[in-house]
Amino acid sequence: MTDWQQLESRYHFSTFKRQPITLVRGQGVRVWDDQGREYLDFVAGLAVVSLGHCHPVVVSALAEQASTLMQVSNLVYSVPQLRLAQLLVENSCLDRVFFCNSGAEAIEGAVKLARKWGKEKRDGAYEVICTDNAFHGRTLATLTASGTEKYKLPYLPLPPGFVHVPFDDVEAIRKVTSAKTCAVLVEPIQGEGGVNVPSDDYLCRLRAWCDEAGILLILDEIQTGIGRTGSLFAYQQYGAEPDIMTLAKGLAGGVPIGAFLAKEHCAVFAPGDHGSTFGGNPLCTHVGYSVLKYVVDNDIPGQVAKKGQHLERRLRSLADRHPMVTEVRGRGLLWAIELDGELAEQAVGMCLKEGLIANNVKPTALRLMPPLVVSEVELDRAVEIVDKVLGKLEKGERE
Ligand SMILES: Cc1ncc(COP(=O)(O)O)c(C=O)c1O
Repeated sequence: MTDWQQLESRYHFSTFKRQPITLVRGQGVRVWDDQGREYLDFVAGLAVVSLGHCHPVVVSALAEQASTLMQVSNLVYSVPQLRLAQLLVENSCLDRVFFCNSGAEAIEGAVKLARKWGKEKRDGAYEVICTDNAFHGRTLATLTASGTEKYKLPYLPLPPGFVHVPFDDVEAIRKVTSAKTCAVLVEPIQGEGGVNVPSDDYLCRLRAWCDEAGILLILDEIQTGIGRTGSLFAYQQYGAEPDIMTLAKGLAGGVPIGAFLAKEHCAVFAPGDHGSTFGGNPLCTHVGYSVLKYVVDNDIPGQVAKKGQHLERRLRSLADRHPMVTEVRGRGLLWAIELDGELAEQAVGMCLKEGLIANNVKPTALRLMPPLVVSEVELDRAVEIVDKVLGKLEKGERE
């Protein structure tokens, strides 16, 4: 453990299971630790640095806005905030945007909006149907909406009004829908739950059920949005439009931001209903605008779709060669490699020694989610490292 790492045990809560490296610099898909070692970063700040580390678009937008105007209150108008709202609306099926600072905060706002809509338009309905293995954040309400029981137990009692059903099961949603239901909240692909890809018709059938039942569909695109799955938003590939959508992570390429967007028919917030001191500040929204414009103008989602096909081919051939790989699943540049035992933590540690940062999203699964600007050469190199590590694990080598 280095001196810096020892500071954690004295000064910081130990809430994270960290890899034994201290990163000090990044450029594109590469990062360097305090010992000067170079790594390929296939975690990308947890699917955040969409354009890679220190992309010139992000760096210059940040510098430009930092020397112009960083923070104003939401009691006045701000040009970067409104320009980003317009760009998001023009490139999605949604009509209005509210900015906040993180994914959890975006989900909180989306649930509040759905509840207010339920109160006004559906006879006081307030319940939100969520799915097992979902991840929506760590605040009390978003933790409750998430689907992993062990994260919840220390914090009981949790806020009421959330019910859970299995993922990829529209019938289960139909069964629990009642007069109390105001919305269904799902991720188009479950990210933290293990990169769980639903059936191709799941979202379409869910959309049809929400229409029939007169309830809202909230899509959490915090991990899947901004090109990650090969379209600007994942819903566009499934042909099912949400009433409310949440974004964060990749939206500003590394600068903290969150947003929820809604269609006009459910945009029921009025002055005083919601707020945030830092939400929509000029600094983060100017960077968000610059990142989103770059992503749209350069068809980054189209490039992700092509690179995703390349990565998929490479991962499938990896699965063919390694019997311990039971499944590879994902879309675009969000993939999981499922192993036939609880070896993911071990594999991640071994990848790190070979110069690849990956993530053990489950005890049995490795997750790869590089910056969207990754090259095919970098994808190949990462797969080669995973290949080597799996080969060692198969021979019973542990490091
Ligand atoms: C789908 C999804 N929703 C919500 C969140 C919470 O975002 P944040 O950590 O910014 O609060 C995450 C974070 O991983 C996520 O993947």
